[in-house]
Amino acid sequence: MSTPTIAVVIVAAGSGTRLGYDEPKAFVPLGDGTVLSTAVAGALGMASAPHLVLVVPDDRVDTTRSSFEPVVAAASAALDVVSGGDTRQQSVSRGLAVLPPGIDTVLVHDAARALTPSLVFDEVAAAVHARNRGVVPALDVVDTIKRVGVDGSVVETVDRSQLRAVQTPQGFPRRALDHAYATARAEFTDDAALVQSAGLAVDVVPGDVRAFKITVPADLRRAEQLVAERTRPTGRHDAPVPRIGTGTDVHAFAADAGVALWLAGLHWPGERGLSGHSDGDAAAHAICDALLAAAGLGDVGRVFGTDDPRFDGAHGEVFLTETKRLVEASGFSIGNVTVQIVGNRPKLSPRRAEAEALLSRVLGAPVSVSATTSDALGFTGRGEGVAAIATALLIP
Ligand code: CTP
Ligand code: MG
Repeated sequence: MSTPTIAVVIVAAGSGTRLGYDEPKAFVPLGDGTVLSTAVAGALGMASAPHLVLVVPDDRVDTTRSSFEPVVAAASAALDVVSGGDTRQQSVSRGLAVLPPGIDTVLVHDAARALTPSLVFDEVAAAVHARNRGVVPALDVVDTIKRVGVDGSVVETVDRSQLRAVQTPQGFPRRALDHAYATARAEFTDDAALVQSAGLAVDVVPGDVRAFKITVPADLRRAEQLVAERTRPTGRHDAPVPRIGTGTDVHAFAADAGVALWLAGLHWPGERGLSGHSDGDAAAHAICDALLAAAGLGDVGRVFGTDDPRFDGAHGEVFLTETKRLVEASGFSIGNVTVQIVGNRPKLSPRRAEAEALLSRVLGAPVSVSATTSDALGFTGRGEGVAAIATALLIP
């Protein structure tokens, strides 16, 4: 384990008056853990393991240390746990006091911004390194902002284009932050304000809506929802995960002008036909490949051997019907299918609806058919053949 040069100080010593729970806000349950354990997971998800300092209420220091030591060790990070002060600023200051000498960059984070993605930590740390100045994540202000007098009357509308709502983690070169805290003579609401009061520069980088601060009960409900969604990406615990597949097929136009064209399940009178063991229906074959791939059943070549007489000269419908049977026998139903035909001829648009109706009927699921030329490039552009690309979605 290389010694960390980045420290993350998570302040968690507040009482959470506005949330109104019996226990301090950071120790309120959230998901399978607490507000604090969720915030810690965000910090430990950084690209390289930080030195972690947790600042907690005095009577929580020992239990916090013993409960977080294993998870911090598992992430190859280092841990300090200290007791906080009466104000946030004092709590940060106590955290800074225990940083080891090797630390050159410090991120100060509110435990209450429990769902801040690890990427935000990484981006703030990287920006501090690159710019050697303070860096705070911030969001544009979306509401119209009014300045209001004590009597409740609007004084003016403030130009919001210059305003930002700032979040944490706020990152600083360690020396600058230590200096600012050592010389601070007033209480500030965030570390950036304190650092700026010491005459040091601070930049903003893009924040993240998930870094919102859990302050009132409605915020905790929102956090619970986000945690639940995070562990169940589909949003429904029992929702089966659908499967997609892609298929491509190419057939050359037949040298023999007497060969009929079959494409997308349709016969195209008067058009030059495609060569192939079957009827050369590239669109139908691409769909079969997409369906088989989505089901994990291999591809057309494997399933329909070229020496199988059942498929000699067979039309697309035969392949599609058999493919449908195979994927359904594997426990899937077809969600939908799209196929795009690439070529100069035939012109699809007059018969698109007909092709879609036929293929949808055969597969028992919506099939969309589209077409494009390749701008006169390649074999399709030279009119030597037709290509088709299909995508299929299967529902388990
Ligand atoms: N904090 C702290 N020490 C304090 C006060 C606050 O470490 N003396 C921390 C909180 O734990 C929180 C962060 O600073 O993670 C932001 O503060 P805030 O959201 O205001 O939390 P609380 O002060 O706990 O909440 P409230 O103001 O509702 O009491
Ligand atoms: Mg507070």
